[in-house]
Amino acid sequence: MDVLGATPTRNLALELARVTEAAAMMAGRFMGRGDKEGADQAAVNAMRLVLSTVDMNGVIVIGEGEKDKAPMLYNGEKVGNGSAPNVDVAVDPIDGTRPLAFGRSNSLATVALAPRGTMFDPGPFVYMNKIAVGPESKGRINIEKSITENLQAVAKAKGKDVEDLTTIILDRPRHEAMVAEIRKAGARIRQIPDGDVAAALMTAWPDSGVDVLLGIGGTPEGVLAACALRAMGGEIQGKLYARDEDELRRGKEAGYDFDKVITMNDLVASEDVFFAATGITDGELLKGVRYHGNHIMTETLVVRGLTGTVRQITATHTVDKLDNLSAIHY
Ligand code: FBP
Repeated sequence: MDVLGATPTRNLALELARVTEAAAMMAGRFMGRGDKEGADQAAVNAMRLVLSTVDMNGVIVIGEGEKDKAPMLYNGEKVGNGSAPNVDVAVDPIDGTRPLAFGRSNSLATVALAPRGTMFDPGPFVYMNKIAVGPESKGRINIEKSITENLQAVAKAKGKDVEDLTTIILDRPRHEAMVAEIRKAGARIRQIPDGDVAAALMTAWPDSGVDVLLGIGGTPEGVLAACALRAMGGEIQGKLYARDEDELRRGKEAGYDFDKVITMNDLVASEDVFFAATGITDGELLKGVRYHGNHIMTETLVVRGLTGTVRQITATHTVDKLDNLSAIHY
């Protein structure tokens, strides 16, 4: 479906760059201050303000949570200026709130759009077991198979040995058995403290040195990663993961199937996706925000699914000019 109607179509990803830049510029001020809530609030305010100017009739599917817990950018909130196209919106004003609060790497501001009704709604079921790869390994992974089999398939697809592969996985106690299996299979491992959206993107990024993302992370982050990977030609698969029996029971009652493979198409059922991410702190993919008095520099990745075009935008923002135009002081 071409949500934009007449051709030539507009690239809303370029509009989204403004949204993630604004969130990153506000959030970046909090680097190392140990104030996760303050950073999140600043990023949400900025993201929401700029989203309201985007030509779209958007509904947040992946947001900051249910309305009573998240007063802004909550799931179900309408965003955009109300004009066509009708889209689902996924936001993560800060993926990597902890790394930002402690001045560590790979914290991003990110947003994705897809035609209305195409994004997976995880409800309150926040964790998903994931496997994600770049374009060369698309169609070769299967989350129902063992980690060893998947690593062998990826190695074959990339024309190298399993020993040459680099996997990336969140550093969590829940991953102990997975890490042991990856080691046994012979692949290299990067254990990261946070940020599996950036990690998923790395699998599709030439020169990142990362081949496969494995492990259990956020389902909302899985939807954002699916939007990006769908556009970049990679693949992600997953299965919902219940933390305990009670969560499993509640999930089943709500109609969620924890045994079902969630494909990239289940996560976002359209090629017509737009994705943007701006670095907040320095990372392998994107530089973090730099503040130079009256100028602020940002680095943003924007991707459009229909064309597969990936752009890296380095922007210089002029604070005193923005002060005349914007309700936000950057
Ligand atoms: P937030 O910064 O939005 O809290 O997410 C950081 C993150 O590392 C995600 O990238 C990841 O999917 C999730 O947290 C993992 O959850 P947990 O920290 O509970 O293991």
